[in-house]
Amino acid sequence: MTHKRSLILNENTHTLCELPILSGTTGPDVIDVETLYKQTGMFTYDPGFTSTASCSSTITYIDGEAGILLYRGYPIEQLAEKCTFLEVCYLLLNGELPSSTELLDFQSTITIHTMVHDQLTNFFKGFRRDAHPMAIMVGVVGALSAFYHDALDIKSKKDRDISAIRLIAKVPTIAAMCHKYSTGLPFMYPQNKLSYVENFMRMMLATPCDDFVPNPVLVRALDRILILHADHEQNASTSTVRLAGSSGANPYACITSGIACLWGAAHGGANEAVLNMLKEIADVSRIPSYIAKAKDKNDAFRLMGFGHRVYKNHDPRAKLMRATCHEVLTELGLHDDPLFKLALELERIALEDPYFIEKKLYPNVDFYSGIVFHALGIPSNMFTALFAMGRTVGWIAHWDEMIADPDQKIGRPRQLYTGSKMRNIPENHGKST
Ligand code: SDX
Repeated sequence: MTHKRSLILNENTHTLCELPILSGTTGPDVIDVETLYKQTGMFTYDPGFTSTASCSSTITYIDGEAGILLYRGYPIEQLAEKCTFLEVCYLLLNGELPSSTELLDFQSTITIHTMVHDQLTNFFKGFRRDAHPMAIMVGVVGALSAFYHDALDIKSKKDRDISAIRLIAKVPTIAAMCHKYSTGLPFMYPQNKLSYVENFMRMMLATPCDDFVPNPVLVRALDRILILHADHEQNASTSTVRLAGSSGANPYACITSGIACLWGAAHGGANEAVLNMLKEIADVSRIPSYIAKAKDKNDAFRLMGFGHRVYKNHDPRAKLMRATCHEVLTELGLHDDPLFKLALELERIALEDPYFIEKKLYPNVDFYSGIVFHALGIPSNMFTALFAMGRTVGWIAHWDEMIADPDQKIGRPRQLYTGSKMRNIPENHGKST
């Protein structure tokens, strides 16, 4: 971070304040407003943080205009093609890709932490069978904060590292348990001889009576999808994790706050909403009416899976997801899948529509993921849980980076107050008239 120039704010004839302008490795410079209130008695105002950098970070870089996404400097296209999800987890956590020895050690450490404390299964019994898996995930991952008292000193890098391992290893197990619980089928225990994604798919799709034979094409596809979801700089759920972590909260509780935030349909809940939308549209002939609804200011309907706060060009993950979708459907002999064909046609029509062109609305990571998950036999109410599985490592990497930052302090935004001025309670208040 370098400071080469400053911004001088003048009001009428006098200087209000002088603020340093900071530059990072790449991307927009920032105006350091930390002393703004002290110098001027004023706050900045930026609902939704459309022009606000909440922190400095070395983890992920997005160029929304160019459609670029880098994890620790590596383009998402190269990571999706050349790496496994656990290699990307190691990269996000440590800043460098692992050597073959480091990867083997990391993989085996994750593997031996995939089981959950057997008492954790009791938490499921409190939920109705038809509870949304994300509601259960919030409850059960949150419950992890009641365990592991042996390693909760967040100032200890060793404790932070074991919390990272436990969360990356156990979130897929808990996600699969959420699915099994909703079906009334017994939980499947992880098997150490399987890879990370094979283990998850078996815990999701196998039963004690009928085991699971991994299809390497489908396993590789899901592994790649987890890579695409692993991190995305200061998105809503990651910012939630950072804010929760800034108070010194337990890492399991912080990740749970990220899961809760991700569930929203404007964020990670969009993948489930896309599939529901495609099923509602049902036929190519109905696409124009839904496009019209999406453009109608008086209609709350939005084209789910389209648009992004940062990407004003294509979302590089959407292109990779579309290719993975085609690969999975072909492998499964579903290349004529009506939902996929409907999605392709919806994308084509939307991208030719002046409204979407003018507002720079492109398919985002959620547009195709639901179709792939559906083809893999994952029920739509589990889609966001899989997004959370991929994003857990990103949340932890940002949490760890923030806790390790010597300048870290509790996050406490201010506001523009528009409520009542100070006033007194009437003398006769509460007295019987
Ligand atoms: C994710 O931040 C991240 O990085 C998130 C994420 C990650 O990896 O963590 O990438 C994951 O959350 C992807 C986004 C998934 N959500 C959806 O697909 C839901 C549908 N999309 C929209 O709700 C919306 O595009 C957002 C929430 C994604 C972005 O909203 P913004 O940046 O606040 O943009 P906006 O709402 O101000 O929209 C700008 C204009 C508006 O019109 P005007 O008021 O200017 O006339 O575009 C319109 C919006 O009405 N618009 C849409 C639209 N998205 C925006 N119109 C129709 N359909 C849409 N999908």
